[in-house]
Amino acid sequence: MRTVVVYYSMLGNTDYAVKKIAQKLGADILRIEPEKAYPDKGFKKFFWGGKSAVMGDTPALMPYSFESESYDRIIFGTPVWAGTFAPPIKTFITENKDKIKGKKISLLACSSGGGADKLAGKIKNLIEATEIEATLHLIDPKDRPNEENDRKIDEFCSLLT
Ligand SMILES: Cc1cc2nc3c(=O)[nH]c(=O)nc-3n(C[C@H](O)[C@H](O)[C@H](O)COP(=O)(O)O)c2cc1C
Repeated sequence: MRTVVVYYSMLGNTDYAVKKIAQKLGADILRIEPEKAYPDKGFKKFFWGGKSAVMGDTPALMPYSFESESYDRIIFGTPVWAGTFAPPIKTFITENKDKIKGKKISLLACSSGGGADKLAGKIKNLIEATEIEATLHLIDPKDRPNEENDRKIDEFCSLLT
């Protein structure tokens, strides 16, 4: 199974977990970035990112290359923003709907608490996928590294090998 991890990370937690997962699975990675970066400090960070997620924005992305025919599986990696996936992920899915159709889909969500419960369902609806193969929810894995997170990453990867 050829796998790519498509992800967005503002503060490095999703990036941290994606790199571990990609290494374990031998997967490729595609990090997407909005053309206009969200503020990443203080109150503005929560205000603008949260507002954008709640409004269902699809911010323009920096140029990327997605060779979909090379992959059977896509793992989406996203921080949880206001209980949903980060807007750049929405843009990517919207721009690549046809290319994503028929692939196996898994999900990595990083949050600082809860908020990830409905994420798999939301991604599934957006992609119009029949199922999500595996879901991994981690609490700030870079800022709060612990054995429990490592165990969960192993478990997730073992479902995908
Ligand atoms: C705009 C914004 C909204 C957030 N909303 C939530 C939330 O609803 N629930 C939660 O538990 N954490 C929330 N967080 C915290 C992040 O999901 C969490 O710190 C995550 O690990 C960050 O991933 P990153 O370092 O890859 O950007 C939010 C953070 C930001 C910046």
